Amino acid sequence: MALNLVRKIIAAHLEPGGSLPTAGGELGLKIDQTLTQDTTGVLVCLEFALMGLSRIKTRLTVNYADHNTLYVGFPNADDHRFLRTASRKYGMIYAPAAAGNCHQLHLENFGKPGATLLGADSHTPTCGGLGSLAIGAGGLSVAMATGGMPYYLTMPKVARVNLSGKLQGWASAKDVILHLLGRLTVKGGVGKVFEYAGPGVATLTVPERGIITNMGAELGATTSIFPSDEQTRAYLSAMGRPEDYIPLGPDAGAAYDEELEVDLSGIVPLIAKPHMPDNVVPVAELDGLAVDQVVIGSCTNSSYADLKLVADLLSGRQVNPATDVLVTPGSVMVLKLLAREGALEPLITSGARLLECACGPCTGNGGSPASGAVSVRTTNRNFVGRSGTRDAKVYLASPATAAMAALNGKITDPATWGQAPKTAELPPDAPHIRHLFVMPAENPGSVEILFGPNIAPLSPMLPPGEFIEGPVLIRVGDNITTDDIMPSGSAAMALRSNLPATAETTFSRVDPDFVKRAKANGRGVIAAGDNYGQGSAREHASLAPRFLGIQAVIAKSFARIHRANLLNFGILPLILENPADYELLEQGQKLRIPMKELKRGERMAVRMEGGQSVWVRNDLSEREYASVMAGGELSLAAARAKGA
Ligand code: F3S
Repeated sequence: MALNLVRKIIAAHLEPGGSLPTAGGELGLKIDQTLTQDTTGVLVCLEFALMGLSRIKTRLTVNYADHNTLYVGFPNADDHRFLRTASRKYGMIYAPAAAGNCHQLHLENFGKPGATLLGADSHTPTCGGLGSLAIGAGGLSVAMATGGMPYYLTMPKVARVNLSGKLQGWASAKDVILHLLGRLTVKGGVGKVFEYAGPGVATLTVPERGIITNMGAELGATTSIFPSDEQTRAYLSAMGRPEDYIPLGPDAGAAYDEELEVDLSGIVPLIAKPHMPDNVVPVAELDGLAVDQVVIGSCTNSSYADLKLVADLLSGRQVNPATDVLVTPGSVMVLKLLAREGALEPLITSGARLLECACGPCTGNGGSPASGAVSVRTTNRNFVGRSGTRDAKVYLASPATAAMAALNGKITDPATWGQAPKTAELPPDAPHIRHLFVMPAENPGSVEILFGPNIAPLSPMLPPGEFIEGPVLIRVGDNITTDDIMPSGSAAMALRSNLPATAETTFSRVDPDFVKRAKANGRGVIAAGDNYGQGSAREHASLAPRFLGIQAVIAKSFARIHRANLLNFGILPLILENPADYELLEQGQKLRIPMKELKRGERMAVRMEGGQSVWVRNDLSEREYASVMAGGELSLAAARAKGA
């Protein structure tokens, strides 16, 4: 039977005895590679050890130090020391602080066509740009996959995105994904993989493809993927690893669940307005908008071609004196190439501030805008407060749009920009930097894992009792992000390895009294609207509420990764049968969920104080049901490790 590319890779990675399900069925996937970054990696290593594991069973696992590279006091430095030593002991590779952003580095050095990659970061699909089936997941799922356990997910629908034509003028890969976001919204990809196909594919380089698959995460997609073709061969060859190339694509006549058309020739420069990546309009519509800050970089747009274009545009000119311009190269390789090809000098001379090769300002880890400022960024998320400045207005755009805003101090109509320069080609002999990576120890027994006072051990959660009961501790609306639940920013992110400390920041930007209320009650439930938990994969957004006594979330719907994270730590995700009942779940409303009545896939009544009930349903698989009843996947895995 003819298979599309997604089903072909899945069929080659089924768990022993598994079969290829139709969309909606549960699937156990063998994982070839895993990755973490420093705000998730410490917990992944702690979970790995708690499950009784001592050596990786993947082909490759890499821990990147790219988010928390500001060393203000000891916490981040301690975390990185822990990651370096734990990686050496467990057989993982450690990419040291500021070697680059995890996704850019993985694309350059490790991603392989046809491989499965599971990453403790929601933008892991970047490697879909070279034909990996690359999925973002919570840390515990990544720890389990690193230990050789299958990764379970619901078989997504496969949507074929048929690309025709060729990008024209100032239009870029960023504008392609912004176009899709404007068309489909942040929920448009839920339960789907986007498989790119058609004659337009060959016109896009691997870094351009990586931009599109990276921001497939903003569509809510499980992942996105391009075929592996001559562009892939050229990229892997430039990266000094031609042996990793294999041609890979769908079988002729393969079927898809959905199809959509994108004519690349018709794409124009686009921009996402505050505060959602799908709030997209043509750049021309914002002509004249004053811009206080420009940030160029992040896992979305920090390749050599992106920054060379910016350097060419800024060359011989100065950035507007009223606009702060910050640039973060995606990796030391990109930085070295910029230097070698003469592109660093014009960047620095223009007045742009060059930051280290890391995530940088994307999550407010430095580089926050001024109060109320307009910040134009090539990043992928513009949620309220993510930049570190709550009243800042963040716009998402391409490097060209950002560079023109840097020069003019305002958004201008692309029709006034003149002739667009040619996209820079990646030189065939890019200076790879694999010597910077810390490799696994040959004698792991000799390696001592070094902890610091900021790293708190984890304990498994207890199973639920006969009832889950307690008040609604908070009721939140639609599209609540993991940034809303567990804020980013340099101070909050430095606490990620310390659950009791990080729990203190839960919902702090939404309701500063939440933690106090949760502690006073000792237990409770969260009520939410649609798409609860969208955004980053951070498992702290479920681990911290669980630590504070949350045992269930009742929502209109859940985002994929967050739902899995809830289950990993024994929080029951329940779906409102009648979305209008959301109104009944006011903060303070006391609820009682009789666990004996929880039957897989069936509706049940949640009792409210005063005798009324709210009907909910669950979409638990057999495996998930067993895990909830045991207190979550971590508890189950830890019990297995002890032989219980
Ligand atoms: Fe880093 Fe921002 Fe990407 S925090 S991994 S650059 S989304």
